[in-house]
Amino acid sequence: MRHLFFLSFIIFMSTSSCTQQQMPSKSLSIQSPSEQLNLSFFTNESGIPSYTLSFKGKTVIDTSTLGFEFKNTPALSQNIAIEASNTRSIDETWEMPWGEQSTVRNHYNELSINLQETLAPNRYFRLVFRLFDDGIGFRYEFPEQDGMDTVIIANELTTFQLTDDHTSWWIPGDWDIYEHLYNTTKVSKINAISKRDHPNLAQTTIPHNAVNTPVTMRTEDGIHLSFHEANLTDYAGMTLKVDTTNLQLKSMLVGSDRMGYKVITQTPFNTPWRTITITEKATELVDSKLILNLNEPNQLGDISWFKPTKYVGIWWEMHLGKSAWDLASGKHGATTENAKSYIDFAAANNIGSVLIEGWNTGWEHWIGFDDREGVFDFVTSYEDYNLEEVVNYGKEKGVDIIMHHETSAAPRTYEQQLDTAYQLMKNLGIHAVKTGYVGKIIPDGEYHHGQWMVNHYRKVLEQGAEYQVAINAHEPIKATGIRRTFPNAISREGLRGQEFNAWASDGGNPPEHLPIVAFTRMLAGPIDFTPGIFNIKLEPYKEKNQVNTTLAQQLALYVVIYSPVQMAADLYEHYEGQVAFQFIRDVGVDWQDTKVLNGEVGDFITIARKEKGSNNWFLGSITDENARDMSISLDFLDADRSYQATIYKDGPDAHWNDHPTDIAIEQIQVNKGDKMDLNLAPGGGVAISFIPISGAEE
Ligand code: NOJ
Ligand code: CA
Repeated sequence: MRHLFFLSFIIFMSTSSCTQQQMPSKSLSIQSPSEQLNLSFFTNESGIPSYTLSFKGKTVIDTSTLGFEFKNTPALSQNIAIEASNTRSIDETWEMPWGEQSTVRNHYNELSINLQETLAPNRYFRLVFRLFDDGIGFRYEFPEQDGMDTVIIANELTTFQLTDDHTSWWIPGDWDIYEHLYNTTKVSKINAISKRDHPNLAQTTIPHNAVNTPVTMRTEDGIHLSFHEANLTDYAGMTLKVDTTNLQLKSMLVGSDRMGYKVITQTPFNTPWRTITITEKATELVDSKLILNLNEPNQLGDISWFKPTKYVGIWWEMHLGKSAWDLASGKHGATTENAKSYIDFAAANNIGSVLIEGWNTGWEHWIGFDDREGVFDFVTSYEDYNLEEVVNYGKEKGVDIIMHHETSAAPRTYEQQLDTAYQLMKNLGIHAVKTGYVGKIIPDGEYHHGQWMVNHYRKVLEQGAEYQVAINAHEPIKATGIRRTFPNAISREGLRGQEFNAWASDGGNPPEHLPIVAFTRMLAGPIDFTPGIFNIKLEPYKEKNQVNTTLAQQLALYVVIYSPVQMAADLYEHYEGQVAFQFIRDVGVDWQDTKVLNGEVGDFITIARKEKGSNNWFLGSITDENARDMSISLDFLDADRSYQATIYKDGPDAHWNDHPTDIAIEQIQVNKGDKMDLNLAPGGGVAISFIPISGAEE
């Protein structure tokens, strides 16, 4: 077996008159499988556990300390000694039931270190480090032990010492909402407290200069680092407090003001994995499967009852103000008749599902009400909507219904109704629900990303699984790779989605938004972004709002932004007679393979994906406010096959603001290895379908 680590004892020589117990320092180290990532762990003379990390010979994380503060017991942060250590190597491959690719390689070297306090109460725990070639995950594991039963965590003291003032892409640390615009600054210039763009959306100003994760950085040398967490289970979400002077990030867990602590748990327990994805190229961040690999294998077994799907729905019309969710408005959108017309459109256009929002009672008492407990009813339809009739109509036409449950952030009301609501879905053969948590969490003092809500979102997944229901959550808990373990966690929001373009008073999402999202939020997991707006200027509904991309970019998003449920979000009448809609009819939604062809954070990205169950490839490329010309090599296509490529590109006058709908469509025949020039307009994009016209059949 390869020699994976060395254990060295260095007798610490000190002349200081420090009265603390002085201990011999010990250090351990381990490398990633191809040896490009190297971790050193040691306890210093005060017995403080610390680590450093280097990538291709360069230090990327300098000495960083680890530990905990508890509510009613002393901190666990010094006088700690290494008792023992173990290593192992794992190289395995697992199958994704749906995803960006069919199989995932999980290849890492693990160093697990048993640590113990040298002074009473002599508590002990383990630190486990997993080194992949594209990053690291580590977590704390607390075994059952005398004197440590219930554990109340006041603070986790995990730190990440940066080596320089990196460029970073960040949103403010917010305990409730991830719906912020990204900022691009040096770490020393991060000023999260001033960055609140929509206080009415339950955004929570926390009195710390902290950022939400994933937060992505680039060093002067061009190395990319992205900080996040994996397997957030029965614990509080982690934001990162930024020390702009010392260039240090420190774990800042989301608290419970109601309970006065961050986490309550019992030994034995493990923390979530703290992760740093580390790659040379920006594109490799998107390739990384580290976060998924740090989650437990599929616990649900066969979930073929969930089928990745494109969908349309009664949704955008409410965001445009054409109709409303509530019946009392006099312009109720979710009528039986309207739902049937969406079903007809879906059936005629290779779209598998229809979402209907505003079908159930309660919407008269939604936004702006504090007493939201017991308001929404998840089984009772408004009088102008016949759920059963709509579902049966869909069945006749081969179209599934996606259920909608807006909880208005009253999770206790939702939990009380989960069984009946999911039983109803089961009876009707509905296998997916979009949930929502708009507003401040009830009860007061709990936050969307605190432990209490982490456990709520998990309960919904578990109960959903029992009823064969897949969950697409809006205002969700952040994605941490749980979809591996619970593949009914199909998609989620957790970013400024398309809806902001319909009503945000700040002009909506700027053209750079998605080229940043692809390298930040998307690293965490699938996004229900809801692309496909053709009526870019939103006329005649919204005079002051628009979508800030070209039409070609709206098509490209079906490939660039990954989700197993992809909405064609516009009103169906805006698709009628549009030649470009053919791309949405054709594009796949479940993938056998993914290739990230090029990209730079905040600038542009190009992705090609091969559809599962066919030999079709699709390519999407998007840019920020700058026009870009690029040459793409079609190396990803299968050999021995010719393809008809249909190219949906920005027209000569295209510009996200001036001529967003200027699109040109071209067809050519191509083969593997051919080169293609792509020209993207400002805020533009390219979408290409590659359909085999000849070649080996499988
Ligand atoms: C916010 C969600 O993001 C949006 O998609 C939904 O339409 C509304 N909440 C209503 O639930
Ligand atoms: Ca939202």
